[in-house]
Amino acid sequence: MNPIITTFDNRLHRDQVISLWKEIFGYEADHNAPQLVINKKLEFGDGLFFIALNNQAVVGTIMAGYDGHRGWIYSIAVSPNYQKQGIGSSLLAFAERKFSELGCMKINLQIMEGNEVVENFYLANEYQTEKRISMGKRLPENINNTEQNDGADA
Ligand SMILES: CC(C)(COP(=O)(O)OP(=O)(O)OC[C@H]1O[C@@H](n2cnc3c(N)ncnc32)[C@H](O)[C@@H]1OP(=O)(O)O)[C@@H](O)C(=O)NCCC(=O)NCCS
Repeated sequence: MNPIITTFDNRLHRDQVISLWKEIFGYEADHNAPQLVINKKLEFGDGLFFIALNNQAVVGTIMAGYDGHRGWIYSIAVSPNYQKQGIGSSLLAFAERKFSELGCMKINLQIMEGNEVVENFYLANEYQTEKRISMGKRLPENINNTEQNDGADA
C-alpha cells in the first residue's frame, strides 16, 4: 500500500490519533495519556509528528524528536487492519529523511522488553539491537494528574 505521509494536523487528525493510540498502546501512565502527549508535542512546535493517511483516514503515526545530538523515535503505530503492508516502514523512512535534513547522525529508540514484533520490524529496517540499560525519571510537576501508577511507559 502507498499511504500519504504528512505532518499531523490537530484539527483534522487529533481524534483519530487518540483512538488509534488507545487501541494500540493502551497506556496507563498519566504522562502517556494521548491528549497530553499531543498537546505537549504541539506546544514544543518542532513539527516532527507525522501520520499515514488512507483516503483521509489516519492509519499510522510516528513521533520524532531531535535534540542536536540524537534523533529519537516514539509512538510508531499502524492500525491493525493496515499492518504488514509497508506503512510502518514508510513512516520510519519519512522520519529518517527529516532527521537527515536536520543534520542528525544517529537515531535511537526504545522498545518494551519482549516486544519481538517491533524489534523484528526495526531489524527489517536496518536498525541494530544495542545492549543498553534504559533509565528514566518522571517530573510529576509537569504531569496533569500526578498520581503515580505502574503503567508501562517510555
Ligand atoms: C511495529 C509496527 C508499527 C509495524 O508496522 P507495519 O506497517 O505492520 O510494518 P511493515 O509492513 O512496514 O513491516 C516491515 C517489516 O517489518 C517486519 N514485521 C512487521 N510486522 C511484523 C510481524 N508482525 N511479525 C514479524 N515481522 C514483522 C517484517 O520483516 C516486515 O517486512 P515484510 O512484510 O516484508 O515481512 C506495527 O506492527 C504496530 O503498530 N505494532 C504495534 C505498535 C507498537 O508496539 N509500536 C511500538 C511502540 S515502541
